[in-house]
Amino acid sequence: MKVLGLETSCDETGIAIYDTEKGLLAHKIYSQIAQHAEYGGVVPELASRDHVRKTLPLIDEVLAQAGIRKQELNAVAYTSGPGLVGALMAGATIGRSLAYALNIPALGVHHMEGHLLAPMLEETQPSMPFIALLVSGGHTQLVRVDGIGQYKLLGQSLDDAAGEAFDKAAKMIGLPYPGGPQIAKLAEQGNKESGLKFPRPMTDRPGLDFSFSGLKTAFLTAVHDALDEGRCDEQFKADAALAFELAIVDTLVIKCRRALESEGLKSLIIAGGVSANKRLREQLETQLKKMKASVFYARPEFCTDNGAMIAYAGAQRLLDGQSSELNLSIRARWPLSDLPPLNEVAHG
Ligand code: KG4
Ligand code: ZN
Repeated sequence: MKVLGLETSCDETGIAIYDTEKGLLAHKIYSQIAQHAEYGGVVPELASRDHVRKTLPLIDEVLAQAGIRKQELNAVAYTSGPGLVGALMAGATIGRSLAYALNIPALGVHHMEGHLLAPMLEETQPSMPFIALLVSGGHTQLVRVDGIGQYKLLGQSLDDAAGEAFDKAAKMIGLPYPGGPQIAKLAEQGNKESGLKFPRPMTDRPGLDFSFSGLKTAFLTAVHDALDEGRCDEQFKADAALAFELAIVDTLVIKCRRALESEGLKSLIIAGGVSANKRLREQLETQLKKMKASVFYARPEFCTDNGAMIAYAGAQRLLDGQSSELNLSIRARWPLSDLPPLNEVAHG
């Protein structure tokens, strides 16, 4: 089954074709970052308009890359939430219409299920059950995964998501959006012995929830103090970026270990934009080895938003006989736990 995947929930147009027999045939990502950069974040109306412009030409490019005609597609999967309503509508309308014209099924995919399953596109994959750490711009969640659609939320951020905290901290020291990769890059110049240390929020009490807004305030206070004292130079910013990155990474690692221990599991997957973070990957590799557990993740371009994860997640549900009605239903907010498991819907 050849599934065309469309991702348009935010500021990336991601298109891919996943073949359930041969694997990923082709994929392309067009990032709108440059258009939003001057506003310091994503402007929803600009995002929607750009998805409308880019989706069809990118579909043609991906078909050409895969060397197939659109008539050879067997199904279309598009992101139907959570995300920006206008942006979601663009992909859903194009995806649903194309499927109608080709007389093939279409399926609305949950964006976070896409992220969660992205590591399955790689050569080494965990077997279920496993723990998933979903860390993107809008979500920080620990989920127990017993099967596709069998998701138990173990903990989540009570305020800012980890990616959002990176983005806001970056803005405070004049770095462009998206801030996560920028902070990580600047942190490479930071000195571990600078004396700067930020809190590891909510790690001193039991539980698997997160809170990053206090950490953000601690970062802001340190920057203001440095400005007042005339020492907010490039080295200070690099030291602060490193201390901030270490605080987020440590916090995530502590909670991941705790989740594995409390559920008695040995496999962790990390997914979503922040899972591209090198320090997070390295720390998890080292810390999990000590408890004889393993961490799995996708290649960097499949950590951030992309069409391949939507094509893959959609393919698993389409194979199960699931599909969406002709009327479009997109959801700006959508708890992962609302998704049905496989084999529970009528095939047809
Ligand atoms: O999954 P994603 O592409 O979009 C959402 O669904 O939100 O995640 C984007 C987030 C942004 O907050 C960005 O700053 C963060 O992921 N991010 C990173 C890195 N690459 C992307 N954060 C830390 N380190 C990175 N290397
Ligand atoms: Zn995402």
